[in-house]
Amino acid sequence: MPRRSRRIAGRPVMITGAASGIGRSLARRLSGLGSPVAIADVDEAGLNATAAMLSGPVFSRVLDVRDAADQLRFADEMREWLPAPLAAVFNNAGVAVTSTVAGAVPEDDDWLFQTNFWGVVHGTRAFLPVLIEQDDGVIVNTSSVFGLLGMPYQSAYCAAKFAIRGFTDALRQELRGTGVRAVTVHPGGITTNIARNARFRTDPEGLGRTKEQMAAQFEAVTMTSPDKAAAIIHRGVEHGKARILVGPDAYLFDALARIAPTHYYAVISRLQAGLRARQRESV
Ligand SMILES: NC(=O)c1ccc[n+]([C@@H]2O[C@H](COP(=O)([O-])OP(=O)(O)OC[C@H]3O[C@@H](n4cnc5c(N)ncnc54)[C@H](O)[C@@H]3O)[C@@H](O)[C@H]2O)c1
Repeated sequence: MPRRSRRIAGRPVMITGAASGIGRSLARRLSGLGSPVAIADVDEAGLNATAAMLSGPVFSRVLDVRDAADQLRFADEMREWLPAPLAAVFNNAGVAVTSTVAGAVPEDDDWLFQTNFWGVVHGTRAFLPVLIEQDDGVIVNTSSVFGLLGMPYQSAYCAAKFAIRGFTDALRQELRGTGVRAVTVHPGGITTNIARNARFRTDPEGLGRTKEQMAAQFEAVTMTSPDKAAAIIHRGVEHGKARILVGPDAYLFDALARIAPTHYYAVISRLQAGLRARQRESV
């Protein structure tokens, strides 16, 4: 079998969750490198804003990734639009929920699971046939460092991100011997709108913080910008990585998962306490 180029820059790509954050930065980066980009999101205004930032060919599509039938329609539309074989599919759209397990609101957890897990599954199933027909291309599914470790108040998010990792790892093995690859992305903290868009009913630690305050705390400890994240993800895909860790904290989480598989949170909670103390001092 001829060895295919892993280069995706300059070739068509599809990105969900492109109205904000990492998805928008991926669209800007790859479009800037000459890729025709198909961008999709449930947020039409944000999607239009992203499209306006791109100078090359764009196919912009309002899509709720939870809708399996609409993902299939989107894939059909893409077949019509594609100016060349599809190089990469970024199933990136995602949301967050903060709550204790005991206090979880089932419809919030369901919203998260439908978006973060089933959205990725529907996107993979809709676009995989296009790549298999070409015998070329890469499916890039966004998990998280919370797909490596379980974190308090993030039970649904962790469950969905662990599930994406399992789903994508299984797919990778099925694709052995073909020209199609499956990649799992594990970002650490990235400064995006994820915490501001999260569902939050009450401070899970009982400290009375508002959602705004929780989001600001999250953003203060993030180590990586969305543009930097997009660059790491893009380079990782082109280097043929099966698993991409994004940001220095992602490497720390990955190491802790191996070194201290049952005691990692003792280390993380100490680091978090130190960061919070530093935040208080700097106010
Ligand atoms: N920001 C972080 O620290 C971080 C860390 C690990 C993983 N991630 C993951 O990275 C991905 C991108 O998130 P981000 O940080 O850029 O957040 P973001 O909130 O800035 O962007 C997420 C995008 O997904 C879209 N979206 C939400 N629900 C959707 C739906 N049903 N259908 C279509 N689009 C939908 C939103 O409208 C938004 O534009 C997510 O999967 C997230 O879980 C983020």
